[in-house]
Amino acid sequence: MSTVSTVSTVSTVSTVSTVSTVSTVSTVSTVSTATRLDHDSPREHIPRPISVAPMMDRTDRHYRYMLRLISRHTLLYTEMVTTGAILFGDQNRHLDFSAEEGPLSLQLGGDDPVALAECAHIAEEWGYDEVNLNVGCPSDRVQSGRFGACLMLRPERVAEAVRAMKSAVKIPVTVKHRIGVDDVDRYEDMLRFVDIVSEEECDGFSVHARKAWLSGLSPKENRNIPPLRYEEIYRLKRERPHLFIEINGGIKTWDEIDDHLKHVDAVMLGRGAYSNPRLFMEADQRLFPSENPAQREIADVISAMADYTDQWVEGGGRAHHVTRHLVHLLSGVPGNKYWRRLLSEEAIKKGANGDVVRRAWQGTIERMKHIEERARLFALKSSN
Ligand SMILES: Cc1cc2nc3c(=O)[nH]c(=O)nc-3n(C[C@H](O)[C@H](O)[C@H](O)COP(=O)(O)O)c2cc1C
Repeated sequence: MSTVSTVSTVSTVSTVSTVSTVSTVSTVSTVSTATRLDHDSPREHIPRPISVAPMMDRTDRHYRYMLRLISRHTLLYTEMVTTGAILFGDQNRHLDFSAEEGPLSLQLGGDDPVALAECAHIAEEWGYDEVNLNVGCPSDRVQSGRFGACLMLRPERVAEAVRAMKSAVKIPVTVKHRIGVDDVDRYEDMLRFVDIVSEEECDGFSVHARKAWLSGLSPKENRNIPPLRYEEIYRLKRERPHLFIEINGGIKTWDEIDDHLKHVDAVMLGRGAYSNPRLFMEADQRLFPSENPAQREIADVISAMADYTDQWVEGGGRAHHVTRHLVHLLSGVPGNKYWRRLLSEEAIKKGANGDVVRRAWQGTIERMKHIEERARLFALKSSN
């Protein structure tokens, strides 16, 4: 087992940056603790009240490293990795992560209980905190392997897989699924699925509040077109209070997160987390106030990511692998256009390293100051 990566030496401590005086970007604020469901979590070691969803080509180790600097306790998922890739492919490439990334769940794609159990075991050996089965992806590729969302039509098979995985590991085994597929999309159908799978003591259900059409819609359309049906997930939690239920789909703000947490155990954000990682700067204070929350300024995160980029490049990687995830870090901030442009254009150049990040940040600060100054002068003029 080797979880030690080329970048695991990167310090995660809050490095005081030369630019930390610019505090306008920090979204850390005094926040009220979210109202939570008034019951104990079914299992102590189960997933957290908030997580970032598994996303192919998004939640790779670099994104996760960045998010972990922002929030120490949010549960993070890998991209989906198929059992075939783990059993017959390059395990190092698919499974390696930095020790700092935890708590981390490995999402598996597959439908063969024996292979899934073997992969769950491998995941545990690599040091993952949880293993999750994908029963939500409707892509053609996944369907041709008879896994993903089409497994919603085979709850007994999912139960068999969960049983096999649970017998292979001590870490929690969870399932991420849809509220339905095709015409099997009544509340009762989802309940039946969950009841059959929970017979095997599945440790948690992350439910995407949209059904999926197995043909006719692309995966992207399947994330946007079918309407969100949150109420059915609330009902699932009401009717099966002993189960750990996480809601997912279309959630983007703390008001929404707080609202959902009144009805279910946990909230999972996908696109909202990717396009606005700064949202998570409040996560620790809001949801884990007694657990040593991360309290970094955005400048500290950027400084640490610049160092991380250097280490990644020194280990043979490309700066762009890391910086592509930083592009959204300053979304909504004045001067962010420059940040995005520099990261996108400069980081792909040969020899690029963490200095691209440092330069992009310095330039953004200058632009922010300029914009602030202009606003101040404008306010002065108007008051004369
Ligand atoms: C680019 C992209 C890749 C995704 N890849 C996965 C995946 O590997 N496994 C999975 O279960 N869901 C995947 N999803 C679905 C998300 O996990 C999530 O369920 C979905 O985006 C709805 O949540 P959101 O509205 O908060 O984004 C992906 C979504 C996106 C946008």
